[in-house]
Amino acid sequence: MDLNSPMNTPDNLRRADQRFHLHPFTQHEELHAQGTHILVEGRGVFLRDSEGRQLLDGLAGLWCVNVGYGCPEIVEAVHAQMRQLAYYPSFFNSTTEPAILLAEKLAALAPPGMGHTLFSNSGSEANETALKLIRTLMKLRGTPGKTKILSREFAYHGVTLGTTSLTGLPSCFSPFDLPLPGFVHVPGPHAYAANREEDPAAYGQWCLEQTERIVERENPDTIAAIFVEPVQGAGGVIVPPPGYLQSLRALARQHDILFVADEVITAFGRVGDWFASGLWELEPDLMTLAKGLTSGYLPLGATMVREEWAELLIHGGPLAHGFTYSGHPTSCAAALANLHVLERDALPARVQADVGPYFQRKLRALADHPAVGEARGVGLIGALELVPPGGKAGLNPATPLGIRAAKLAREAGVIVRGIRDLIAVAPPLIISHAEIDQLFEGIQQALDRLHPPMK
Ligand SMILES: Cc1ncc(COP(=O)(O)O)c(C=O)c1O
Repeated sequence: MDLNSPMNTPDNLRRADQRFHLHPFTQHEELHAQGTHILVEGRGVFLRDSEGRQLLDGLAGLWCVNVGYGCPEIVEAVHAQMRQLAYYPSFFNSTTEPAILLAEKLAALAPPGMGHTLFSNSGSEANETALKLIRTLMKLRGTPGKTKILSREFAYHGVTLGTTSLTGLPSCFSPFDLPLPGFVHVPGPHAYAANREEDPAAYGQWCLEQTERIVERENPDTIAAIFVEPVQGAGGVIVPPPGYLQSLRALARQHDILFVADEVITAFGRVGDWFASGLWELEPDLMTLAKGLTSGYLPLGATMVREEWAELLIHGGPLAHGFTYSGHPTSCAAALANLHVLERDALPARVQADVGPYFQRKLRALADHPAVGEARGVGLIGALELVPPGGKAGLNPATPLGIRAAKLAREAGVIVRGIRDLIAVAPPLIISHAEIDQLFEGIQQALDRLHPPMK
């Protein structure tokens, strides 16, 4: 079959999909039983599928389409760059104009001190790059014994061997016999999962104390870095209690442990600022970016490095790391146009002052629904923890509610993500109040079907 062939009916495509396509993060038997959902068009916050149904995308693709679908500025910038120079590498003393301009732009937008950027193609590669840079940095600065890496339970940092080892979700690492040696998980501040939701601050404090104990147990002289998503996304939209991240940052500094902010989801407006690190004054040593950097229009990852560490790398001999497509000029052109739109339309500030608070009010209004155990979120990201009719105590890991609720939401015309017993919501930042209303009406319909009101 060719693209645009009249043979490409939804049924033919689904048959070919089943025959030839292995999907990421998919239970294939279930997929083949129901047939894949094929999306064909996107405009603003809306998608159209191969059956002609319109859906409101409450997850911005995969937490990434920050400026929404069909953004003409990005489309035009990509066309123009492809016409002029579709590709040239940044290896061996060469590069291209968009790669230089994007590195400069990121340094201007990022929190103070984050001066240099090494580009890659994804969040996983951005974190893998950070892992490798940290290994070489520890040798360059004369502390080669610092090799261990800390990350938190419920963290999601990617799918390479290194980044799966960082990831704190057993469903991601156990099938692959990971984590690798030298990766240590500390508690993540998921108060609801620990049945401590009545006092998240106290649970956050307990997590910090445990983290400190683990640091002492492992010996700080052997620990190079800690990776931290400011809001843990794929692990269940875990919003840190006030002060927790700053204390974790201070703990890292006290033990000479580098602090890596994985801002793959949180950057570029999602939490109501350009970067969560800026909003919460985390002063990271390294910061990793992807997703919203191009709003998902083309693959691009970035590892930003604080100036003092960049200096060490610059004077540390040949840097034998990088990807064929590091600094891909067309991806960088997409990113520059995307950042221009985010800046011109002040989308991070709009999330902070307008749509973020509105979205959070609507989210929290569902906290009283009998199917909801907890509503939490910040900016334009949120989660609803779901409970069965018997309440939280009746939850059964064998029959998680999140996937079921997400399926019901899709039937109601809105896309959200099911994770364990929760649904996650993170729409494009351009969403209007009326579209937020529509999103939560769809979610409410799904919840009503999950939990029919008692007659
Ligand atoms: C916080 C975070 N880090 C890293 C990644 C991995 O990014 P990618 O899927 O682009 O490799 C993700 C993906 O969801 C993420 O949410």
